[in-house]
Amino acid sequence: MILVTGATGKVGGQAVSQLLDAGVAVRALTRDPASTIFPKGVEVVRGDLADPATLDDALDGVESVFLVWPTLSADHAAPATIETIAKHARRIVYLSAHGVPDPAAGVPEEDPNSILGSHALLERLIERSGLEWTFLRPGGFAANTLMWASQIRDTGTVRWLHGAASRALIHERDIAAAGVSVLTGTGTGTGTGHAGARYVLSGPEVLTQVEQVTAIGQAIGRPVRWEDLSPETALRELLDQGWPPAAAEEMVDAYAGMVTSPESVTSTVEELTGRPATPFRQWAADHADDFR
Ligand SMILES: NC(=O)c1ccc[n+]([C@@H]2O[C@H](COP(=O)([O-])OP(=O)(O)OC[C@H]3O[C@@H](n4cnc5c(N)ncnc54)[C@H](OP(=O)(O)O)[C@@H]3O)[C@@H](O)[C@H]2O)c1
Repeated sequence: MILVTGATGKVGGQAVSQLLDAGVAVRALTRDPASTIFPKGVEVVRGDLADPATLDDALDGVESVFLVWPTLSADHAAPATIETIAKHARRIVYLSAHGVPDPAAGVPEEDPNSILGSHALLERLIERSGLEWTFLRPGGFAANTLMWASQIRDTGTVRWLHGAASRALIHERDIAAAGVSVLTGTGTGTGTGHAGARYVLSGPEVLTQVEQVTAIGQAIGRPVRWEDLSPETALRELLDQGWPPAAAEEMVDAYAGMVTSPESVTSTVEELTGRPATPFRQWAADHADDFR
């Protein structure tokens, strides 16, 4: 039995479907089982990662956990939650992030109130938990561009910062497939021997944000324009949307960094799954209705 958290979300939802397709017994964790319809065959359980007392039933009989963590909002409970998972399960695949502080690799510690600081906290707790672990460290999700969907629908223009910022955006299906390959020992890659691995995952190509917007325009059959926002305006908009200040500043700084240091492409998705990572134009075609 494999427990998937974040099962109503993008990567977790894909992980549930792909594990089911692989013939594995899957349990899906959500705080509100009534709000989502899961595929037939999935066992749905209620649980809150920020409240470890709610997790014992969800973890009963579970061998492995695909852990999607809701970052800062549950960090206060992380030590007890990881301890609870380790009491029940043998193995964990944790959805971390590229760029996570990793003193062992020379990447310094970071503000614990930042998103990367949150992933670092979880990685450290998992390393010390006694669980057999594998970390997936994807770069930017292609699905981040969904934040432009209402602007594209309403105005046909994306207003955001640093059009030249370049990312190797990854399809949520590929992240899940990498995790499923680790959990099931399938795929043509390293096969077994995933314990203690930190896999950096990316899409197959680097695109500027302007190129991403062009690809979305091609997918929906009408051009989409780009308009550069100043970093100050972008920061204010994130704060207005309720982002915690440290995370909002981290986001704005990250986009500035990607102008001069674009994300890099890795071959890890293909190595783990046996299939090349999905190009962004295919992701845009898969999600065209979200932008129409
Ligand atoms: N976006 C990126 O570029 C990027 C890059 C690298 C890594 N990541 C990481 O990927 C992870 C997923 O991010 P996302 O934005 O894509 O998430 P998402 O798909 O929007 O999913 C969020 C999920 O978290 C669950 N959740 C929230 N609070 C919870 C709680 N207290 N207990 C249990 N479940 C809870 C929700 O489930 P219910 O509401 O059903 O309970 C939902 O399924 C995050 O850790 C993020 O930092 C993101």
